[in-house]
Amino acid sequence: MSGLKVSVLGAAGGIGQPLSLLLKLNDKIDQLSLFDVFNTPGVGADLSHINTDSSAKAFLPTSKEDTTQLAEALKGSNLVIIPAGVPRKPGMTRDDLFNINAGIVKSLAEGIAENCPEAFVLIISNPVNSTVPIVAETLKAKGVFNAKRLFGVTTLDIVRANTFISQLFPEESKASDFNINVIGGHSGETIVPLYSVGKSKSFYEKLSEQQKNDLIHRVQFGGDEVVQAKNGTGSATLSMAYAGYKLAESILNAVSGKSDVVECTFLNFDDSIKGSKEAKKLVGDLDFFSLPVLLGKNGIEEVKYEILNEINDDEKKLLSVAIEQLSKNIEKGVEFSKK
Ligand code: NAD
Ligand code: LMR
Repeated sequence: MSGLKVSVLGAAGGIGQPLSLLLKLNDKIDQLSLFDVFNTPGVGADLSHINTDSSAKAFLPTSKEDTTQLAEALKGSNLVIIPAGVPRKPGMTRDDLFNINAGIVKSLAEGIAENCPEAFVLIISNPVNSTVPIVAETLKAKGVFNAKRLFGVTTLDIVRANTFISQLFPEESKASDFNINVIGGHSGETIVPLYSVGKSKSFYEKLSEQQKNDLIHRVQFGGDEVVQAKNGTGSATLSMAYAGYKLAESILNAVSGKSDVVECTFLNFDDSIKGSKEAKKLVGDLDFFSLPVLLGKNGIEEVKYEILNEINDDEKKLLSVAIEQLSKNIEKGVEFSKK
């Protein structure tokens, strides 16, 4: 499949700009649609000079009430990525962003329901554990929800997990050697890296208990490292743009016929997705959770829940903490969207 239209909502932001740049380089994309509430004309003009074959078009509302620009940006979109919303400052949790970002995400989801209900939707805006349920419930209320097409972006946790273990074995490994499954959610202890499964296992087992704990803690709280280093000016943007692009690229590849594409994503367990029932039972009956999924032409084809049967006792403990916290985050998102 080629000639695709991809929209970025929040395109002028810290993530939106480098993410849009990466998307401009993808030859499967024909039209790149850039929506934000400020500065999109500048970002659009800049990107449009790049001599790749896609067009880059900017959309900026003229007032708070103006929904025409969002509608124009979204019409005909095959894939929509949402990094719109405020980022953290030092001392804040992702949940502290809920009050502002929940409303932003809900209104953008309404725009998607009205203008491109069939699009694949990737949610970056935090708190992901709650914003993804908000989008799901909003699309359900509009009668256009398709669980196969909704993705909470947790890819940055995998990117970090790969990098951080390779840093412990500089002589024997490279970051690109790894593809760690990181499951659960996207905040603190809801992030569960599964180092004991797959290629990382032999490296992980060489670590002391203290090193293992430190490594897991670093993945769970990796976002804080960037928030602190940026010292009040925002959170991860460049690594996030890379991670968000990676998931988008995998989806576009799968849609275009590539087989065996597997990525971790925070998804809604719906009967339309193979393995959902089994997965849900293994994660305390939660409706949303990040697990590896097989991607295909229609999006999420199958949840690879079997990995949950391979985890060690330490990871089981991490999982039960994650489940408890996640259930509150999910409930908060669902409740908000019903208001
Ligand atoms: P930013 O402030 O640099 O950019 C956000 C952009 O959203 C701004 O340009 C702003 O104008 C725009 N925006 C606000 N309201 C909007 C609306 N109604 N419609 C369209 N655009 C709107 O922030 P950032 O650093 O790009 O981060 C964006 C979000 O991504 C934050 O919530 C952050 O916590 C989250 N984030 C998530 C992950 C992840 O792993 N999922 C990683 C990093 C950051
Ligand atoms: C991250 O993991 O870097 C993002 O979720 C941003 C944050 O607030 O830490």
